[in-house]
Amino acid sequence: MRKLKLLLIVAAVPLSVFAEEIKLPTGADDLKRGKSLYMGACTYCHGPTGDGGKGADLSRRDLRSAKTDGDLARIIEVGLPGTEMPGMMHMTRNEVLQTAAFVRTLGRAETPAAALTGNAAKGEALYAKHNCAACHTIDSKGGFMGPDLSVIGSRRSATHLREAIVDPSITVPNNFLYTTLTLEGGRNITGARLWEDSFIINVRDFAGNNHSIDKSRVTQVTKEQKKSPMPSYKEKLSAAQIEDLVAYMAARKEAR
Ligand code: HEC
Ligand code: HEC
Repeated sequence: MRKLKLLLIVAAVPLSVFAEEIKLPTGADDLKRGKSLYMGACTYCHGPTGDGGKGADLSRRDLRSAKTDGDLARIIEVGLPGTEMPGMMHMTRNEVLQTAAFVRTLGRAETPAAALTGNAAKGEALYAKHNCAACHTIDSKGGFMGPDLSVIGSRRSATHLREAIVDPSITVPNNFLYTTLTLEGGRNITGARLWEDSFIINVRDFAGNNHSIDKSRVTQVTKEQKKSPMPSYKEKLSAAQIEDLVAYMAARKEAR
């Protein structure tokens, strides 16, 4: 009778087949297969050593959401809803476990590349001095043209943060595309495209004004995939100052 009840509970949670207590494979062949699955499906966002790209830093011992191996396998299988982390629905259960086993090896290797050399307090001062808050919000203060940076350190790796400051055009999230709308009568609106549906397109201009425009009034839309509304700070900041800013942002983590 007790067994039957347990089965029913499991059936009511169809999202994942992974129980809390799972064992990741440790064999050399499994890890090799896990590595090749990782290289195929994850490097694009997490980088070959887990410390790069637009995904979270996986080269750490303690992962924020993937605390247990069961959590890790579940995240790989179904993703993190509401974030850019996709589920790997095409993987078999065994492949998910092999990939998870490989991900754990990334955290064991000490990766000096990911080490932060900057000074977070100096970074905070630079953030104020260069008026990043004109476009970004931290803890409900600031502008809305760019993404909220309150917990940016949990969402992005240090490599991505560095890239975002030096060369913003490399990694423009889809909802912040540099967009120009030409309206009937020839007026232009230029800024970041925040969202659109079949009828309305929403653009935040450089003065911070929000425009929700009926698409029937728009004669032309130009979206530039390779251009960011954010200016590059490569010429304005020294290498050490960039590291200070990266350290400041990397420390902006979600409270546990
Ligand atoms: C399209 C980009 C993308 C791909 C592809 C991707 N990830 Fe992610 N992943 C992310 C992002 C972004 C986050 C951070 C989500 C958040 O918390 O905001 C993340 C988070 C994670 C986390 C949670 C990290 C933590 O600190 O707990 C794990 C684990 C993870 N990814 C593993 C993988 C693995 C393994 C693969 C390949 C099978 C993969 N990801 C593929 C973008 C991606
Ligand atoms: C004119 C507005 C503007 C200013 C000023 C600005 N940003 Fe941005 N920022 C954006 C926009 C828009 C994006 C999203 C597009 C992109 O990633 O290139 C962005 C993206 C970012 C990202 C990546 C966020 C993510 O989720 O990947 C970081 C980090 C960042 N900015 C930091 C800064 C810092 C630090 C400063 C000040 C030195 C700054 N920004 C100044 C508009 C701005």
